[in-house]
Amino acid sequence: MKQKMKSCCFLLFLEILILLSGCNSYNNDKSANTIRIGVALYTQDDTFISSIVQNLEKIAQQTENKDLKINITIMDGKSNQTTQMEQIDQLIRRNYNFLCVNIVDRTAASVLVDKAKDADIPVIFFNRQPVAEDIERWEKAYYVGSKAEEGGKLQGQIVLDAWLNNKDIYDKNNDNIIQYVMLEGEPAHQDTLLRTEYAIKTLTDNDIMVEKLSSDTANWSKSQAINKTSEWIKQFNNNIEVVFANNDDMALGAIDAFTNAGLNIPLIVGVDAIPPAIEAIKNGTLYGTVKNDAYGVANTMLSLILSLYNNEKINLKLEDEHYLWLPYEIITIENA
Ligand code: GAL
Ligand code: CA
Repeated sequence: MKQKMKSCCFLLFLEILILLSGCNSYNNDKSANTIRIGVALYTQDDTFISSIVQNLEKIAQQTENKDLKINITIMDGKSNQTTQMEQIDQLIRRNYNFLCVNIVDRTAASVLVDKAKDADIPVIFFNRQPVAEDIERWEKAYYVGSKAEEGGKLQGQIVLDAWLNNKDIYDKNNDNIIQYVMLEGEPAHQDTLLRTEYAIKTLTDNDIMVEKLSSDTANWSKSQAINKTSEWIKQFNNNIEVVFANNDDMALGAIDAFTNAGLNIPLIVGVDAIPPAIEAIKNGTLYGTVKNDAYGVANTMLSLILSLYNNEKINLKLEDEHYLWLPYEIITIENA
């Protein structure tokens, strides 16, 4: 019995030794040529964000070769800043090489930048833009995204062109004024505030008269947009001439609401150019959208990461030392 115990202990000891040495050489090999990227999302439940992630995974796979592996870990912040912060702590503890952060609360970036700085892990924010002072806290903090006001201007431009060319169709009550409703994204999101403002400003700057019937948040969500728009349809009868939606999911929700009510669909515009929106443009239910470049965001983040990883000069148009901007683009039946 004693003998058996002894040999058992010895075997166990041997096994631990083998495991340890195995682990070590594996780790060394691995960390030498594996880039580990931690991606923290505000929520996984968002069509446009999902498409950024899909692109990131695809491009990473295409970039890999026999000498380089790219390992991506996705964290779902479930729209909760505390949850997201814990996830980032975990990524830092586990020594990830890079952090890509789609921050839940864009006013809460300072703590996060400081944590990344202390651990010397470059942090790339994307899609949800932190305030400038927070990004400027560290030279290795970046933002990749599009200029929100430009998205708004282009959306306004789509409506302006449609109105000028076909006022007889869109001005239902013939008063030369656009009666509109606005479906807004999350309150305080830069894309909500600036798209809303600049879409309308583009029209008024061009001497178009507008009348806001109503506006409200539908939090980027199609189902919330169906409910909101259905209420407005009841409230304003058939007098809505234009529906501005801060994104495509909400524009598609508005289309459903008009269809459910058995009404003709008015002029509806979105932003993002997600595949179902392109389909809707082709079948004539969505008038137009503004392409938000999911591929570009993913590709730019990965290029930046590779430059930093290889210690190369950053071969991208870095503005104000921290910003990588991607252009928006108008999509209508002409180019869908
Ligand atoms: C916007 C996009 C929305 C939503 C949001 C999330 O740029 O248009 O659809 O994804 O980002 O932050
Ligand atoms: Ca009118």
